[in-house]
Amino acid sequence: MDKIIVEGGWRLSGQVKISGAKNAALPILAAALLVDGWCEFTNVPQLRDVDSIKQLITHLGAQVETPEPGVVRINAGGLCNHEAPYDLVRKMRASVLVLGPLVARLQKARVSLPGGCAIGSRPINLHLRGLQRLGARIELEHGYVEAAAEKLCGADIYFDVVTVTGTENMMMAAVLAEGVTVLKNAAREPEIIALAEVLTQMGADIQGAGTSEITITGVSALQPVKVAIIPDRIETGTFMTAAALTGSRIEICDCEPTHLNAVIHKLRLTGAQIDIRKDSLTIQGRDEIASIDIKTLPYPGFPTDMQAQFMVLMSVAKGLSVISETIFENRFIHVSELKRMGADITVSGNTAMVRGMAALSAAPVMATDLRASASLILAGLVAKGRTEVQRVYHLDRGYEAMEKKFAALGAAIKRLPV
Ligand code: EPU
Repeated sequence: MDKIIVEGGWRLSGQVKISGAKNAALPILAAALLVDGWCEFTNVPQLRDVDSIKQLITHLGAQVETPEPGVVRINAGGLCNHEAPYDLVRKMRASVLVLGPLVARLQKARVSLPGGCAIGSRPINLHLRGLQRLGARIELEHGYVEAAAEKLCGADIYFDVVTVTGTENMMMAAVLAEGVTVLKNAAREPEIIALAEVLTQMGADIQGAGTSEITITGVSALQPVKVAIIPDRIETGTFMTAAALTGSRIEICDCEPTHLNAVIHKLRLTGAQIDIRKDSLTIQGRDEIASIDIKTLPYPGFPTDMQAQFMVLMSVAKGLSVISETIFENRFIHVSELKRMGADITVSGNTAMVRGMAALSAAPVMATDLRASASLILAGLVAKGRTEVQRVYHLDRGYEAMEKKFAALGAAIKRLPV
């Protein structure tokens, strides 16, 4: 597996372009399963997770083409297989996003249960309960979910906790159901709005996406579409945090600043200056970083996917920071690696106390989660010496050419094939 080597202590400068959003691309590519005909998606990030969903969609009988980098064409006219096997689902939990479209199109689905992952147990009980509300019979057998319904019928679905992929799965199941479905306590992430816009362009009737109540009136069929994937707000936030961390001035292009209000607010409180334009922004970091507290929450709160990166920033800030993780029960896996780089962090339950210090020191590190891996690259940018980040596999799942983008900004960073 490749490693990334980072030599700390360099300022960043210049411009970086943000790629399409992983967490928007995955449900939108899955939504192509709802359509008989060629859909075309542009600004699709080149990531392992995108490769995984393309492989799964192909396995289900759809045609998938990549005519050029960043473009994916899917025709699910030949959709014939209703099974998402363990070998594909275990590579990527978001494979569960095919459940809704399969039941809607084929009236049945057999999808391997994703199981836990490094950041938490991550059940899919709310996806299954939602499908049951729409009239599907659900059975769990031999590690698989089997769902079947001669016909899905609209219903009120209340989510006990806000779930992003749960909301997406129910939207995709409900668009072809008979009658009206109301999703209550729905997720409000920009990726939900992006999926709703794509489904609407396909001919679906969806009201309220972006609020906690989404109303879907079923239609009989959907049409092919051509759409671009929205910019990745977590990649944007990661580069912003890198600038704040290294006291650098960088311009971030092709992004959507309105999707980052909570992150921008918090970065400003640390002392960073941020100038926002329509689809770009400039951030100027400061040499002295102020400590602030963070609590992760569903959107529009502070994103859990930015928590690890902010913890690095707080590790070199002045003062004490309290970081509370309320979304996932085990999302502090980066803490032990950051401590090996000298960070002063104490974890108690879902809270981390970070005592900021002047500098981190380089070390060989590895992480078993995507955002944790990104945080280690950030730590390497400010650590004294040469940090070796192993298991880059996780990073490649969700960041397009991250080390190349940092190298173009002037960081001393390179990938070593092992
Ligand atoms: N939950 C349940 N039951 C369910 C579904 C969720 O209890 O049926 C719980 C989860 O265990 C968790 C909470 O609800 O405690 C929120 O989980 P959610 O379902 O929202 O997470 P997800 O949909 O599996 C997506 C992103 C994650 C991101 C979370 C939270 C995708 C493909 N993944 O996951 O992204 O952290 O929402 O914002 O959209 C990442 O990109 O690194 C990543 C992990």
